[in-house]
Amino acid sequence: MIKNTHSNSMEITRRYLDTLVVEGRILGSVHPSAQVSLLGMEFETPVMGAALSHLKPGMAGYAEGLKKAGAFCSVGMGDNDDLKKVLDTGAKVMKVIKPYADREEIFSRIFFAEKNGAAALAIDVEHATNSEDDRDSVVVGYPMKQPTLEELREYVASTTLPFFFKGVMGPKDAMTAKELGAAGVILSHHNNILRCAAPHVFLLPEIRKAVGPDFILIADGGIEDGYDAFKALARGADLVSVGRPFMAPYEAEGPDGIVKVVNEFTDELKALMLRTGANDLASINPSVVREAYWM
Ligand SMILES: Cc1cc2nc3c(=O)[nH]c(=O)nc-3n(C[C@H](O)[C@H](O)[C@H](O)COP(=O)(O)O)c2cc1C
Repeated sequence: MIKNTHSNSMEITRRYLDTLVVEGRILGSVHPSAQVSLLGMEFETPVMGAALSHLKPGMAGYAEGLKKAGAFCSVGMGDNDDLKKVLDTGAKVMKVIKPYADREEIFSRIFFAEKNGAAALAIDVEHATNSEDDRDSVVVGYPMKQPTLEELREYVASTTLPFFFKGVMGPKDAMTAKELGAAGVILSHHNNILRCAAPHVFLLPEIRKAVGPDFILIADGGIEDGYDAFKALARGADLVSVGRPFMAPYEAEGPDGIVKVVNEFTDELKALMLRTGANDLASINPSVVREAYWM
């Protein structure tokens, strides 16, 4: 038997993004704004920082850069001291909590994040198991467990902060997340944990239609520049979350590297907005993005 070792959701996402082409609508265009209001906060850009644990120069500098760029910041695995340093920067932060088998770990992290000024919370449910089998995973020595729906409902209800589920990939789970009281979802396969995943950009119009206009959709994974960001936003995302493309600029130049790369993404996004007649994010017209089946 030949084993398929080729399925790679990152490659699939890239291939799909490249089949999306944009119809120019330049006549009468003006310089657009990429500002976004979300959960009572104002951001200069819909490009947010993905949760990146174990960053070499530390997570606080990453948050500092995102704050300077006027962008939302998510923060991943790390202890409460790490989170406190991130929150002390004054950045607007979503803390992404792992699906620990020990539920007290989850509740104590929810409590700590809320008490210390986080703006939102998430749980990355997709990291409870590995891609190769259905066994619970162990992440940096911590046993994980797939949360039940009732447990998810309890996490949402245990805090006044808006709660997100990371690892949702399609309309069915997005609807379930909404029923459980989530404020939104982060559409993510977490770097190929779900192999051969249908890309978020592909499913976004269906997901948006299922959940309605007010449920927050964050597209995470494979957004490599502002043009990719435009495609995800045009197809229904409220924000895009970017991880690996931010790592090298941060490691090379610290917080200033983050400011530069976020600005680059935002400039590219605005270039396409201008060329498609969108004055602001709300007026990006989904019909300008065409699927080029002939490519
Ligand atoms: C070094 C590294 C550390 C990460 N740590 C976390 C984490 O602690 N929590 C989490 O939810 N996601 C974590 N992720 C996943 C990212 O948040 C993101 O979902 C993923 O990298 C896909 O986005 P990208 O294609 O823009 O990199 C990590 C990714 C990388 C590369």
